[in-house]
Amino acid sequence: MTSFIVNADFPASRPRRNRRDNFSRRLVRENVLTANDLIYPVFVMEGTGIQEPVPSMPGVVRYSLDTLLVAAEECVALNIPVLALFPVIDASLKTPDGNEAANPEGLIPRVVAALKQRFPELGVLTDVALDPYTSHGQDGVLDSEGYVLNEPTVEVLVRQALVQAQAGVDIVAPSDMMDGRIGAVRSALEAERHIYTRIMAYSAKYASAFYGPFRDAVGSAVNLGKSNKFTYQMDPANRNEALREVAADIREGADMVMVKPGMPYLDILRDVKSAFGMPTYAYQVSGEYAMIKAAAANGWLDHDKVMMESLLAFKRAGADGILTYFAVAAAKLLKEQG
Ligand code: PBG
Repeated sequence: MTSFIVNADFPASRPRRNRRDNFSRRLVRENVLTANDLIYPVFVMEGTGIQEPVPSMPGVVRYSLDTLLVAAEECVALNIPVLALFPVIDASLKTPDGNEAANPEGLIPRVVAALKQRFPELGVLTDVALDPYTSHGQDGVLDSEGYVLNEPTVEVLVRQALVQAQAGVDIVAPSDMMDGRIGAVRSALEAERHIYTRIMAYSAKYASAFYGPFRDAVGSAVNLGKSNKFTYQMDPANRNEALREVAADIREGADMVMVKPGMPYLDILRDVKSAFGMPTYAYQVSGEYAMIKAAAANGWLDHDKVMMESLLAFKRAGADGILTYFAVAAAKLLKEQG
């Protein structure tokens, strides 16, 4: 019978030697999570004094601008480098073409301007996508059969990105998965002399069921109903295609690339980091957050330990940073631990 245990080096090699004491565990540790790795996604809406809980995301709230400024101040104090903004748009402003996305007086441009004025050193990232603004909840403009049209959608996305850049945003993050949108946004930004606006491309974005709670949070779930995003977001079965998507976005002018969702797609994250060596980000999405919260609430998992392990795993897989709803909780813990 063949043995599958091949440890010819033993006892010259005893891997447990380095694991024996805390000092040597620290000495050989390959990856570390710091506050610099965290991007905090926040939901923002009109009004004042609002902190409206999102039921499917315990601990996450929808902010109005005034309460968001308080949260932003905490992020600055915790050394979190970037806030990512997601709008909750009033139903009366939603249209089939999502044109409100490109309104220079809209919610997001006003919030960006206020944040940059108050906290110039805090990075601000905005999503470039139409789903919070469309009456049907899809990320683009539809034809009569409900198919999302590529070029007409890219046209609105370009105007949306320009409005965000004009408002002073640091990073625009197209999350729509239209073909050619990174190139279109990049050339428009250059043409308008927004030459320092960074593009973080949601490059390998999958058609995932893990986005469910996010769609509750921005209020697109009801509009989307039973329809899906399979004609533009990637098939979860595909791996090689992710590399082609990332390659295209880099050629078109992306400064940073992203893989989304996070934990079920760590293989993709590693592939992307190894293939391109670009600044590479993972999005620990709403459903991943909800799973950990639900298990912890039941006493089935240790909240803080699982949170920190999940974030560290992104670093090990190759992420330069993580968009995570845990950003503030994790940064607080990191600060306490010194
Ligand atoms: C919008 C967008 C989505 C997410 C980020 N930007 C939802 C979607 O594509 O349906 C999901 C984030 C999350 O689940 O936390 N295009």
